[in-house]
Amino acid sequence: MSENKVTLNDQTTGKSIELPVLKGSQGDPTLDIKNLHKETGYFTYDPGFAQTAACSSAITFIDGNKGVLQYRGYPIEQLAENSNFLEVAYLLLNGNLPNTSEMADFDHDITYHSMVHEKLNNFMSGFHYDAHPMAMMSGAVGSLAAFYHDRLDPEDPNQRELAAKRMIAKMPTIAAICYRHHRGLPNAYPKNNLGFTERFLDTMFSVPAEPYEVNPVAAKALDLLFILHADHEQNASTSTVRLVGSTGANPYACIAAGIAALWGPAHGGANESVLKMLDEIGSVDNIPKYIAKAKDRNDPFRLMGFGHRVYKNFDPRASIIRKACHDVLNELNITDPQLDLAMELEEIALRDEFFVERKLYPNVDFYSGIIYKALGIPVSMFTVMFAIARTVGWAAQWLEMREDPGKIGRPRQIYTGETTRDYLKMDQR
Ligand code: SDX
Repeated sequence: MSENKVTLNDQTTGKSIELPVLKGSQGDPTLDIKNLHKETGYFTYDPGFAQTAACSSAITFIDGNKGVLQYRGYPIEQLAENSNFLEVAYLLLNGNLPNTSEMADFDHDITYHSMVHEKLNNFMSGFHYDAHPMAMMSGAVGSLAAFYHDRLDPEDPNQRELAAKRMIAKMPTIAAICYRHHRGLPNAYPKNNLGFTERFLDTMFSVPAEPYEVNPVAAKALDLLFILHADHEQNASTSTVRLVGSTGANPYACIAAGIAALWGPAHGGANESVLKMLDEIGSVDNIPKYIAKAKDRNDPFRLMGFGHRVYKNFDPRASIIRKACHDVLNELNITDPQLDLAMELEEIALRDEFFVERKLYPNVDFYSGIIYKALGIPVSMFTVMFAIARTVGWAAQWLEMREDPGKIGRPRQIYTGETTRDYLKMDQR
């Protein structure tokens, strides 16, 4: 990283300090404040880390103003058009696109790690039938540490790589168990003769009574969504995985923490909330009422699937998904009034000064649910779909962090509580 300096003049003390400026291969210059407190006594305050780089990373680059997203330098539009999820997974984990033999080896490894221990099936059967699948998934992934307790050393690169592959391979299987548990279906086992996304759809939807044919349109659409959700630099769940990983916790605990963070409606849970919001809006006639609610500072209602901490332009993933919605619904010969409602909502919002001024555009979660629904995936499983894909990003970012662990993550605070005071006995209070 090339360096120049920025001088900070403290008018209260008359002192000045030079802060190194760090520059990555792409993106905005960054002030290095590692020594700020030591040299000036000042901390910095940045709630939600909106302006703070917590790490350096070579995996994913986003330019929020230009609506740019790149995985290892490849534009998301090109990967969406030409690649597939497992190849993108290899790219994110290893830094380059695989050649034929590398892809075959990686595919073999993921395929032959896709089964889960039978006792995990038993563990999952203990949940109530209507347990939320994200609760089941975070519990199941955390429990994987109990099945691989002899291969958890984050200091061992071979164990790190094995854990990453196991996680990527088993997430679809665990997701299918969650779905089938809810539906009262017997467990289905992953078939090694199928590709990653076909295998997942088969494990989800096959029934013992008859052979199940994976619909190629569904597989292609879901594989595209997996590509688009695979990684997104230091979002809340990935930052959670890194923070937990910085303590030396085992990989399954780190990913389970990431799943928990993703579940929130401000993050990956938004795709489920979008469909519930569209249900609540119900018809185009009600859109103005909900736009007004979203603009009312006294109303907690937000337009789910809109806005983003980084994108102040179109989320490139939303643009790709919007187009895919039309293609998938046409190919599956489905008409979904919620797509028309979503399109109308987007058009009205993007004509409204409140949204334009705040640069609130549709994000990745706004249209994805339309496709999930068309594939027969229930709304409660939408964030699980996000988690299957994002496990690749979490694993890649965890591996990158563990290669050079650095310091344990430990943010500071501005203390606003009581100043020092003495304890009073009960009869003196
Ligand atoms: C994901 O970080 C990532 O990369 C995440 C993600 C990934 O791939 O990992 O991209 C996935 O999480 C996408 C986001 C999904 N969440 C939603 O769709 C939920 C709805 N969106 C909002 O909650 C919100 O936009 C956030 C959480 C996404 C971003 O919040 P910020 O950056 O903290 O923005 P903000 O709260 O500072 O908003 C700025 C202004 C505020 O108004 P004012 O105080 O200036 O008057 O915009 C308003 C907000 O009230 N605002 C919205 C709004 N989002 C922001 N108003 C109405 N509806 C919204 N959706």
